[in-house]
Amino acid sequence: MTENLRELFHLQEGLVFLNHGSFGACPKPVFKTYQDWQLTLENQPVAFLDQERGLLDNMKAARVAVAKELGANEQDIVGVENATAGLNAIARSQELKPGDEILTSNHEYNALENTWRFVADRTGAKIVVADIAIPLRSEDQFTSSILKKMTENTKVLFLSHITSPTSLVFPIENVVKEARNRGIITVIDGAHAPGLIHLKLNELNADFYSGNCHKWMMAPKGSAFLWAHKDVQHTLEPTVISHGWVPQNGNKKQLGAFGDSRFIDCFEVQGTRDPAAWFTVPAAIEFKQLHNWEKVKRRSSELAMATAVTISKLTKIPLFASHEFLAPQLVSIPLPDCDVDELKNRLLSEYDIEIPVFRWADICIVRLSIQGYNTQQEADALVNAISEILGLR
Ligand SMILES: Cc1ncc(COP(=O)(O)O)c(C=O)c1O
Repeated sequence: MTENLRELFHLQEGLVFLNHGSFGACPKPVFKTYQDWQLTLENQPVAFLDQERGLLDNMKAARVAVAKELGANEQDIVGVENATAGLNAIARSQELKPGDEILTSNHEYNALENTWRFVADRTGAKIVVADIAIPLRSEDQFTSSILKKMTENTKVLFLSHITSPTSLVFPIENVVKEARNRGIITVIDGAHAPGLIHLKLNELNADFYSGNCHKWMMAPKGSAFLWAHKDVQHTLEPTVISHGWVPQNGNKKQLGAFGDSRFIDCFEVQGTRDPAAWFTVPAAIEFKQLHNWEKVKRRSSELAMATAVTISKLTKIPLFASHEFLAPQLVSIPLPDCDVDELKNRLLSEYDIEIPVFRWADICIVRLSIQGYNTQQEADALVNAISEILGLR
């Protein structure tokens, strides 16, 4: 018998929650650990937040656990509030000048498109967008679309590991390697990747990577990480300059450094913050081990894929890629042209289904997430609701 995982979540009763992808959902035992950390903080705020009296040790414990889970060294990773924050620090640290090019794809997340637009506006650098055509059928197709746009002016390659609108796993390994050969800085947006795909940061060997723990790693909101290759850590400046910051060539000792390195100090010692979510990530990792999450993931991926295929057969519109490039548990399903807001609102108001429906590149899309708490009945309810509303049968 499979465990009834729904009981382990705080999700509203009666709600068919098919949108884990946007903000995740934190399991009750993990959320309890999070609240316990917050209570400990309020019991003795000074002891908790004083760098010398435990804060840095607790920071490090989380860093060590996340690094182990993601195939990284703990000296190369720091906690940040969300992937947007991590990627902002990276983007805004790049020293670019007019004529430089930031190469990216047409599947990127709007918030980060804005970040790069902001950087480009201030530096005079140009954003170059490689069109990754759908359906994505091969790694070569992806690699050649990127390489075609790589020039001697390309200074930064910015790509999602798993794309937000289309839920594709971009096969980034080759282009990351090629960019390194050409001296191009690689910045990877891994907002969805940790916990969803097999992520090994050292092996990927990008320059910078930021991802969320609150989505598929099952940690509370406010937990994410920034990973930086040791060769480029010195080029990074935090968005918030605080006690932990020292000038690039400053004398750490003289300026009162706190922990292991300038990189870690800059990001770990930043004003008064509630670090409870970051401290809870090890509990989220343990939760997944305890509940046999590999099996849960497999079952969830199968259900997500089967549901997507069913809808695709009904609409007669093919999915965005061959199976190997479709993210597990998260599938963007193209729909016939429709009023996306109306569809989204009716799914919620008439069928109690929470799921994102939106338009990307003029294609209507419903993005299905399946997590351990979802059931076959819920997936069937989605198929039925979409069929009724769009008149598909
Ligand atoms: C590809 C991608 N990048 C970045 C983000 C931003 O994540 P956050 O809002 O947690 O910073 C998201 C959010 O869903 C995303 O899908």
